[in-house]
Amino acid sequence: MHDFKYRENELYCEDTMIDAIACDVGTPFYLYSRKTLENHFTAFDGAFAGTQHLTCYSVKSNSNVAVLRLFARLGAGVDVVSGGEIYRAVKAGIPADKIVYSGVGKTRDEIASALETDILMFNVESSQELALIDEVAREKGCKARIALRVNPDVDPKTHPYISTGLKKNKFGIKIEDALEEYKQAVQKEHIEVVGVDCHIGSQITEVSPFVDALKRVKKFVAQLQQEGISIRYVDIGGGLGITYDNESPPHPQEYAEAIISELGNEPYTLIMEPGRVIAGNAGILVTRVLFTKQSGAKKFIIVDAGMNDLVRPSLYDAYHGISPVKNRDRATVTADIVGPICETGDFIARGRSVPDFAEGELIAVMSAGAYGFTMSSNYNSRPRVAEVLVDGDRYHVIRARETLEDLVRLEQIPEHLQ
Ligand code: LLP
Repeated sequence: MHDFKYRENELYCEDTMIDAIACDVGTPFYLYSRKTLENHFTAFDGAFAGTQHLTCYSVKSNSNVAVLRLFARLGAGVDVVSGGEIYRAVKAGIPADKIVYSGVGKTRDEIASALETDILMFNVESSQELALIDEVAREKGCKARIALRVNPDVDPKTHPYISTGLKKNKFGIKIEDALEEYKQAVQKEHIEVVGVDCHIGSQITEVSPFVDALKRVKKFVAQLQQEGISIRYVDIGGGLGITYDNESPPHPQEYAEAIISELGNEPYTLIMEPGRVIAGNAGILVTRVLFTKQSGAKKFIIVDAGMNDLVRPSLYDAYHGISPVKNRDRATVTADIVGPICETGDFIARGRSVPDFAEGELIAVMSAGAYGFTMSSNYNSRPRVAEVLVDGDRYHVIRARETLEDLVRLEQIPEHLQ
């Protein structure tokens, strides 16, 4: 469910007319609904209400500090993957003891800053990383709480680029090797083993891969116990999918029920790291048609948003719904919706049946709240677009559109070229 709906023939976000925002802030821009973000978080978190748990929203999906603040106020924790994300989370008011830190390539500086912040735990992905965390914690005279990310070798049946829980993926430690790693970890003076972590992939539209992974993790936790290693947290990662087109992913309630019933009465705190399911359908990208052109049998609708603004179609051939901001009911054409970037791969939709858009019209690119702005870049020297948050009949620019000066702000011409 989301709050981007037509009234008469006009697309609204909650009680705000999208056309009015576009006139004010210009295009393109990302637009998020506060109500949808909150509803999605509450629905997810509430589905685990009967179980000791912590919902750690995955910052990488949408990391705007205003969005993080909104979740902080709902009691959320966060899953971070860099020093930058820790910085954002703290700035937004997420309590340090609700931050879990994943990622295959944590640097010494990032580890040091996570220890200074005193985060809840590191999700460790290799023995070398574990050794480095131990070393940095020793230097700092503290203990690092850790979980090892085990790779359960489960097929999440999703796009290969976002599948992470198979042996052939770079993530985690093979579940067969993990016991040995844990034995090593508990020996380390500056490491406190507190959990087991896994994350099998993203945009998963069935419950079974999650249950299979949890089964293996549970078995593994029992093995740990036999070795006298007890843990407090089981982190099952993120990955629950959403509807972009005609997928029918499980509702968070169904997902939670399956997880909870598999978990049984184990005395752990369950950690989840949902990103897309919270933010994906709570945001859209609003873009304006610059030109249209017919090239032989092919129609192109050229818009002012490019692959630098929303890379998912180019990178994953991802589907995003295309909706007119005005005049919903009219003739359609088959067209490619393309951006202004000098690459053939710069498209938002290809061979799609869409309204016969005219020059100057606004288009809403749907389901763009997750991995939209966060994956955007300055390619082709395009300033990154504004982000706007609607709250009922009001809206706020929560990230200003970058300026041309922003583009070159950190660049310098060395003396010998002056
Ligand atoms: N936890 C970990 C360790 C992750 O790597 C991820 C996502 C998540 C949680 C959140 O997963 P979610 O609930 O959002 O599926 N850029 C891609 C998605 C990459 C996901 C990477 N990891 C896309 O646009 O589809």
